[in-house]
Amino acid sequence: MVDWQGKSVWIVGASSGIGEATASALHALGARVTVSARKEAALQDFATRHPGSRALVLDASDQAAVQAAVDTLLAAGPLDCVIYCAGHYNAMRAYEMDVPDMERHMQVNYLGALYVLQAVTPAMLAQGHGHISLVGSVAGYRGLPNSLAYGPTKAALINLAETLYLDLRDKGLGVSLISPGFVQTPLTANNAFDMPALITPAQAADAMVKGWANGRFEIHFPRRFTLWMQLLRLLPDRLFFALVRRATL
Ligand SMILES: NC(=O)c1ccc[n+]([C@@H]2O[C@H](COP(=O)([O-])OP(=O)(O)OC[C@H]3O[C@@H](n4cnc5c(N)ncnc54)[C@H](OP(=O)(O)O)[C@@H]3O)[C@@H](O)[C@H]2O)c1
Repeated sequence: MVDWQGKSVWIVGASSGIGEATASALHALGARVTVSARKEAALQDFATRHPGSRALVLDASDQAAVQAAVDTLLAAGPLDCVIYCAGHYNAMRAYEMDVPDMERHMQVNYLGALYVLQAVTPAMLAQGHGHISLVGSVAGYRGLPNSLAYGPTKAALINLAETLYLDLRDKGLGVSLISPGFVQTPLTANNAFDMPALITPAQAADAMVKGWANGRFEIHFPRRFTLWMQLLRLLPDRLFFALVRRATL
């Protein structure tokens, strides 16, 4: 995707961080952006600062609310691109297991994506075009310390995106997976560990825009970090566990 002029783009999870920065970048490229999340004031503020954009308040874990939002969006015309960026994250160790919070991770990070997909995919198939981007994480590549609740939801999203790509590409729909490394946002603000190769949300948005232009399935950044994560992904278990323990203990 290179030409965003006049394109209708819906970003779920756009009241702050990567989603907001991406909405801003795409608005600057001429897209008609609709921003969704739960924080109404932040969304309205975005819409005021970005003329022509629209705020649509939404809890992505509420399937009926997602369907109602999509009905509103589609009533205004075709949707060219949807970006699922909503995320919930708390660091969690296996010896501190908190199942209700793990369920919350699953609701926001994974089930919300399914609700969005179920609502938008039939319309995109009917119109014969459209692009779906899921924001995963390199934390979904393999198991990591602190990632008990978050990592499995992102692993599920990666698998989901691959399957969507295989099923929808021949039907005219684009699918991409966004795999950020560490980005300075409210989501990571409470991390008590050093975050290597930390970038700003604006840098993340820039990498995403370049990635869409290149047409790759997976858009990962910053590459000075994510390429190492991709290498770790390929290692045999013994080596992988030894390296991660050494780097994180
Ligand atoms: N920051 C990183 O280092 C990093 C790395 C890898 C992947 N990611 C992923 O990038 C995405 C964006 O995260 P971020 O870092 O930009 O953090 P962020 O600024 O906290 O953004 C998260 C967004 O998700 C929205 N959200 C949370 N729960 C929601 C719900 N139930 N319904 C609708 N929206 C909801 C939040 O808005 P409301 O609170 O207003 O609902 C917010 O707009 C997430 O999927 C995250 O997992 C981030």
